Amino acid sequence: MQTLGRRLLQSHASLRRTTLGLRFAHSQDPSSSDPTRTASFGFRNVPEEAKEGMVREVFDSVAAKYDLMNDASSMGVHRLWKDEFVASLQPGRRGPQKCIDVAGGTGDIALRILDFAREKYACRETTVDVVDINGQMLKEGFKRFKKTMYHNTPQISFTEGNAQGLSKEQFPNNTYDLYTIAFGIRNCTSIPAVLEEAYRVLKPGGTFACLEFSRVDNPLLSTLYDQYSFSVIPLLGTILAGDRQSYQYLVESIRRFPAQAEFSRMIRDAGFKTGKDVDGAAWVNLWGGIACIHTGVKV
Ligand SMILES: C[S@@+](CC[C@H](N)C(=O)[O-])C[C@H]1O[C@@H](n2cnc3c(N)ncnc32)[C@H](O)[C@@H]1O
Repeated sequence: MQTLGRRLLQSHASLRRTTLGLRFAHSQDPSSSDPTRTASFGFRNVPEEAKEGMVREVFDSVAAKYDLMNDASSMGVHRLWKDEFVASLQPGRRGPQKCIDVAGGTGDIALRILDFAREKYACRETTVDVVDINGQMLKEGFKRFKKTMYHNTPQISFTEGNAQGLSKEQFPNNTYDLYTIAFGIRNCTSIPAVLEEAYRVLKPGGTFACLEFSRVDNPLLSTLYDQYSFSVIPLLGTILAGDRQSYQYLVESIRRFPAQAEFSRMIRDAGFKTGKDVDGAAWVNLWGGIACIHTGVKV
């Protein structure tokens, strides 16, 4: 299936670049050579080098039903969060922007960026390069873009690649004005490696923006949210996608992701400038922290 996805993507003229054969062991991640290191896979710890393949299996399995499941499990709320994420970035406001959407999956963020720039600022020169490790997810995104005005234009491209080690030939240093990653970074084995790559490909002054599930402080909301996500989401996975395990992983992986202030520190450690460590500055909580937008600027 994965090969089919790759072939399909490769065969199309608008697929400008394909990053094949990238493995987790990329040169900038020193941890990757140590077989004793572990990474979280949901609530389990697994050998670090195994995580990438396991995550890939999850998204291979959910790709065809991913959009449907997103709508069902969040009752459509993910759309509001994504709208708010993109609106907060104002793509196209200062003229055409070169954007990269990493772990871009089926292209939800890319489509919103292009629509926002066009509808709000009449900008048709903003571009988005969608990158994802999973050919099946990209294939779904590609199919979806075929129905849009952006299909076969230089405004969109789909590339298979690893957020932790983007190809330097395909994604040179200091290239992008905006780097987005939505609900993707928690699936990556090494968050620092992703941030390092984001910093590398952004131009000085460029913006890193991450939308991710985060930590809910309110105890009542947190309890309700836990009950909902641990019982309803895996059940919906079984009913709608015939796959409980993948959705169990997705819910568990949310709980393993660093809380707002810790992630913000990681962003700064990668070299980005952020606002102060409070809601409304370095990050903006959505729905009490169920999701959260983090931004940083490359200095
Ligand atoms: C939950 S989906 C999010 C997709 C999309 N950004 C959205 O908001 O709908 C997570 C995506 O991360 C991708 N992914 C996981 N690990 C990755 C990695 N190391 N590099 C690039 N993409 C990765 C998966 O293949 C999947 O498409």
